[in-house]
Amino acid sequence: MDMTDLFATRAGRMKASEIRELLKLLDQPDIISFAGGIPDPALFPHEAFRQSYAEVLGGASANAALQYQVSEGFLPLRQWIAGEMARIGIPCDEGNIFITSGSQQGLDYLGKLFLSPNDTALVTWPTYLGALQAFSAYEPRYDRLSPAGGNMTPDAYREAATQAGGAVKFAYLVPDFANPSGETLTLAQREAVLDLAEELGIAVIEDAAYAALRYSGEPVPPIAALDALRSGGIDAGRTIYCGSFSKILAPGLRVGWICAPRRLIEKLVLTKQASDLHSPSINQMVVHRVAETHYGAQVERTRAAYHARRDALLKALEAHMPAGVSWSRPEGGMFVWMTLPEGIDAAVLLARAVSEARVAFVPGSAFHADGSGTNTLRLSFTLADERAVTEGIPRLAALIRSALEN
Ligand SMILES: Cc1ncc(COP(=O)(O)O)c(C=O)c1O
Repeated sequence: MDMTDLFATRAGRMKASEIRELLKLLDQPDIISFAGGIPDPALFPHEAFRQSYAEVLGGASANAALQYQVSEGFLPLRQWIAGEMARIGIPCDEGNIFITSGSQQGLDYLGKLFLSPNDTALVTWPTYLGALQAFSAYEPRYDRLSPAGGNMTPDAYREAATQAGGAVKFAYLVPDFANPSGETLTLAQREAVLDLAEELGIAVIEDAAYAALRYSGEPVPPIAALDALRSGGIDAGRTIYCGSFSKILAPGLRVGWICAPRRLIEKLVLTKQASDLHSPSINQMVVHRVAETHYGAQVERTRAAYHARRDALLKALEAHMPAGVSWSRPEGGMFVWMTLPEGIDAAVLLARAVSEARVAFVPGSAFHADGSGTNTLRLSFTLADERAVTEGIPRLAALIRSALEN
């Protein structure tokens, strides 16, 4: 039976992610891939995980590890996260922390809570593809958020939203070393986003998936911290901070969190009860142990490795890319964002890159809610070892040069 006709309208908005589809094709060993935005598995704290699983299952905690758990999440983990949030300037307690199955689940829940069909979500062009996928299932429209300048007036946003049959509900952004652009918002830009949100009366979703991965430059306070300062505390604020252990410990355990005003946490708890009841008990307990003993060292280790790879990639781009190609110089994270001369379609280039140059990247248009950005692409440096950079970048540069000549 073909069930397509039976699907809800939202199913029409669910499309295969270009990145995930692409990743399937890239296990041929001769392809040098800058495509997948995944952590380097060599950096996972393997031994700490092995030991923690054994301890959690071997001792008095075994029953709790295998039993149902409260929907908010494992209390000691929430307390640990609250301490970490306070350390980066977001004063809160465990009542503000909600454990999710990866921050991706948090984005889905926020879409579910805030977006009715035809409501408006403000996102940057480009933005994290997984956020667009999560939100799109709730049938919103998108409007463009430009924290670096050029935002529409609050009235213009409001009017466009009303005309579309809904209201502006939130602004979503990745303020530190964004996926895919690598950009970091300045303090003034963060304040401007809060000003706009205040004027529109909307929430701000701060996706901090990469926030701990800074390699150069000065840290900028999280939007949630700035908001707590101006609102008089997190519970009076409008910012929803989404955190993740995926990039520092390991993504496979699927443990992330939301730090937000208590009244939102209460709604998220109800959302989770209807969804998966709670994130896996054993993984939360293990992440708690590993975070307590290894988090700081893991941050340092991961930063050192990616810092060197970022520098090597930037150096190779500088040495080999033809004139007319520009790219971001990220202060952290995992990605360099490249802009090709107008008229070169990165998706077309990718087909040639894979078949001729045996190099892969992610074309940029999928990260644009309006499908623009066809001349942009994303390079991830987390898995880019010396060979990848010294062989892959000249090959990619030669291909771009030949595309420019044709
Ligand atoms: C910006 C951003 N947010 C969220 C996620 C999801 O991370 P996780 O669900 O593993 O916490 C990712 C993953 O790549 C990301 O790039």
